[in-house]
Amino acid sequence: MILKAKNIYKSYKNGVKNLPVLTDLSISVDKQETITIMGPSGSGKSTLLHILGTLDKPDSGSVIINQTDVSSVSENKLALLRSREIGFIFQFHHLLPEFTAFENVLIPTQIIGNTDDKIKYAEELFDYIGLRERKEHYPSQLSGGERLRVAVLRALINNPSIIFADEPTGNLDVDNAKKLLQLFKNISEDFGQSLIITTHNEEVASIGERQFILDHGVLNSRE
Ligand SMILES: Nc1ncnc2c1ncn2[C@@H]1O[C@H](COP(=O)(O)OP(=O)(O)OP(=O)(O)O)[C@@H](O)[C@H]1O
Ligand SMILES: [Mg+2]
Repeated sequence: MILKAKNIYKSYKNGVKNLPVLTDLSISVDKQETITIMGPSGSGKSTLLHILGTLDKPDSGSVIINQTDVSSVSENKLALLRSREIGFIFQFHHLLPEFTAFENVLIPTQIIGNTDDKIKYAEELFDYIGLRERKEHYPSQLSGGERLRVAVLRALINNPSIIFADEPTGNLDVDNAKKLLQLFKNISEDFGQSLIITTHNEEVASIGERQFILDHGVLNSRE
């Protein structure tokens, strides 16, 4: 097992009101497993991914990644664990505009050491994903689908155990969404990562070996 989250609660304070988003949510993820999560807008999918990906903390409950309880380690250790174990593809790709596509992909390697090996690996990944000719483009010079693929490479560069993708096809046309979907299938086969994907799209959801719906703060299996 690569990730285990137990009894997660998360609420947001809006003035005096407390808005519960996740209530007693538990999930475990096996190595190389693909999990998809659907759920209405505002149900807490992004919140959940951020917590599982250690970018945000739950009010209570535990997240264990590769046998480390993330609440028990220092911020420095957590940053290292995050860069080794986790790749994140955000709902809005979050590429840095002042860096080229190639530089963006190498950013996560800096915390572990930007070695020559990584540069070579980045070259290979650009070939793998069909963006060899776009390496020196800035994000503003890429199409939406290309930006997303660059974000996928950035998530892959450290060869993490788990990749979280928050509504990765949300802003893509049908063709590009299909390409991205195929890419995810290839990634889990070729690189052996666990994938956790949130989506509003049935076709994306269908690639999950386990499929869930987030509703009223908990995950229900889709049958
Ligand atoms: N920083 C915050 N402060 C207060 N409320 C928040 C904050 N972030 C999210 N929320 C609220 O928490 C709920 C869940 O938000 P979240 O972004 O996780 O939903 P989602 O399922 O990802 O939605 P979508 O499908 O639209 O991306 C929403 O009602 C949102 O308004
Ligand atoms: Mg969201």
